[in-house]
Amino acid sequence: MYQLLDGKLLSAQIKEEIKLEVESLMAQGKRAPNLVAVIVGNDPASETYVNSKARNCEAVGMQSSVIRLDENISEEKLLQQINLLNNDKNVDGFIVQMPLPKHINEQKIIETISPEKDVDGFHPINLGKMMLGQEAFVSATPMGIMEMLKRYNIDTKGKHAVVIGRSNIVGTPISLLLSRNTNPGNCTVTLCHSQTKNLKEICLQADIIVAAIGKKHFVTADMVKDGAVIIDVGINRIAGEKKIYGDVDFDNVAPKSSFITPVPGGVGLMTIVSLMLNTLKSAKAKR
Ligand code: GUN
Repeated sequence: MYQLLDGKLLSAQIKEEIKLEVESLMAQGKRAPNLVAVIVGNDPASETYVNSKARNCEAVGMQSSVIRLDENISEEKLLQQINLLNNDKNVDGFIVQMPLPKHINEQKIIETISPEKDVDGFHPINLGKMMLGQEAFVSATPMGIMEMLKRYNIDTKGKHAVVIGRSNIVGTPISLLLSRNTNPGNCTVTLCHSQTKNLKEICLQADIIVAAIGKKHFVTADMVKDGAVIIDVGINRIAGEKKIYGDVDFDNVAPKSSFITPVPGGVGLMTIVSLMLNTLKSAKAKR
């Protein structure tokens, strides 16, 4: 029988812990940690995501606001907005919701965010420090996955982790984190992507699978070894449907697994609390 890696339960516990820390900061006469989200245009998925971040922050006593900018804003104007946030002493951390409209260079935007306020952990300084095992903001989804493995006491040492997807936000950083000499960590990692040959054979050797590919039900039962740990990062929407689907065919894969994350209710909720943890860390570091 498999065990669910319950993001709802864990994120509720972590939010309780954050709430206590926020209360303790405020009892010392400090202001509440403040997270700002910048959203450009009106992509519905981004809108949902940003609103959820703001709601969750408020639930733990943190300040949060959303800056909504027109889809046609110039890159220069957006850079000015970022500089305002970089210099605003009342802002501990901020994120610029991706994707951005095509006329804006995402990498340039990311590199303008002050690394000390880059609670998404997207800036090259934070990615570089993370790679070196130095103190840094780790991007929220990989951080949430590591926290989940830790709190469920999943034994990762010496295990073969197969990561599917090599994005800068999830696949590449989680591969690094899992391979480091830490606990959780110490995995032998195989990073698979669109050019990988024999993906099924590689997955069948996995003790841990992290599916971060962005395709509905991509990981099927015939790709999974008995007793594997399955982490599903997918949030896939189908046109005309409200429901979201993971990258893993949960109903058929779950009976073969030892631990598995559901979608929704798994990694997504851990991502949001990780962002809040990074904001809290930034607030504590400054004062
Ligand atoms: N778009 C999808 N996921 C994320 C995220 O974690 N942060 C930002 N800024 N944009 C995203």
